[in-house]
Amino acid sequence: MPATKKELLTNLNHNFNKLTPGGIREFDYKASSIPGIIKLTLGEPDFNVPAAMKEAAIASINANDSHYAPGTGTPALRKAIAHFMADRYNLDYDPDSEIAVTVGATEGIYASLSAIINPGDEILVTTPTFPLYMVVTKILGGTPVEIDTSADNFVLTPAKLQAVLAKHPHAKGIILNYPSNPTGVTYTAAQIKALAEAIKATNLVVIADEIYSELVYDGPHTSIASFIPEQTLILNGASKSHAMTGYRIGFIAGPQELMKPVSAIHAMMVTAASDPTMAAAVAAFDTVEGKTATLEMKEAYKQRRNFVVEVLKQLGFEMTTPNGAFYIFAKIPTQFGNDDLKFATDLANEGKVAVIPGSFFGAGGQGYVRISYATSMETLKQAMDNIAAFVNKED
Ligand SMILES: Cc1ncc(COP(=O)(O)O)c(C=O)c1O
Repeated sequence: MPATKKELLTNLNHNFNKLTPGGIREFDYKASSIPGIIKLTLGEPDFNVPAAMKEAAIASINANDSHYAPGTGTPALRKAIAHFMADRYNLDYDPDSEIAVTVGATEGIYASLSAIINPGDEILVTTPTFPLYMVVTKILGGTPVEIDTSADNFVLTPAKLQAVLAKHPHAKGIILNYPSNPTGVTYTAAQIKALAEAIKATNLVVIADEIYSELVYDGPHTSIASFIPEQTLILNGASKSHAMTGYRIGFIAGPQELMKPVSAIHAMMVTAASDPTMAAAVAAFDTVEGKTATLEMKEAYKQRRNFVVEVLKQLGFEMTTPNGAFYIFAKIPTQFGNDDLKFATDLANEGKVAVIPGSFFGAGGQGYVRISYATSMETLKQAMDNIAAFVNKED
């Protein structure tokens, strides 16, 4: 095994030094070694990929669909995505120039941020947040500006945005993620409209990560692009809506002039997504089977959410009922104080349930834990029994 030449170590991208070590995966990894642990840690749907999507991938392989696709994705998939966006969210995107298929929403985050960040640029990030936005912003030489939304039920208000902009008038972009990982909170149509009106008066590029848009339980999902499409890049994909995390299909939709650099950077990084999984995604986004599969999963998630919220509230956790995604962001019972890392560590070791400490998600997460309910009802029941025993023992 080769040892790295020592002198090279100072030649690496210095932006890496600005990163704080990844908390979630590390915590999950450590917890995995605890015998009998039940993990409610990761945002990974427990459902299998629905049959119609699997069959479409298999048919693509058998048809020797094995060559480089166009950089922005197969015409069939871009058309399917355009239909999906029109059907579900009443949004109008041209499949030829305003949609690019990415390798998961993860690559969409990298491609869209790469297209707008110059070294030193500030990017506004509402927190608690999916940590990748901060990591990628830093790697690209930008500076994330955290906006703590915990005092407003995890929603960014126009007044808060204006206060932040007064201090950061040159911010280049803002990342919004709703329904949110980690809070499960989403914006009502009125809330997002009011925020869009405030953003319209600025030159911020909005990166709207709407990967959980199909998992809104009560009421519709309203995209911010309904109000300010001219300055919005929407990120979405099949990972959460169709339990297709391993297929790695995401997409970006936005106005043509913004999409040009985004698509170019995407093609430079990955050339294109893979043919068989793009074929599967056509079935996900543009067939009755695809739509039905999502609705069935959503119903199951909703039941799980209702169950977990009810038990946790009885045990003294505080939360507003989350209306989307598959996370609950709960304030730990008062008798445990505010140290979420200690609480989560003790719960894992003694109660045998792993959840993620809220402070891993940035400002406003202290004193909370994130619980993923993307797992079976049977597992959730056992987990809640364990949490009850742990909490009641400490009383
Ligand atoms: C908010 C958010 N955006 C993006 C992703 C990544 O999605 P993908 O698996 O499609 O790359 C996740 C995954 O957990 C997420 O929670």
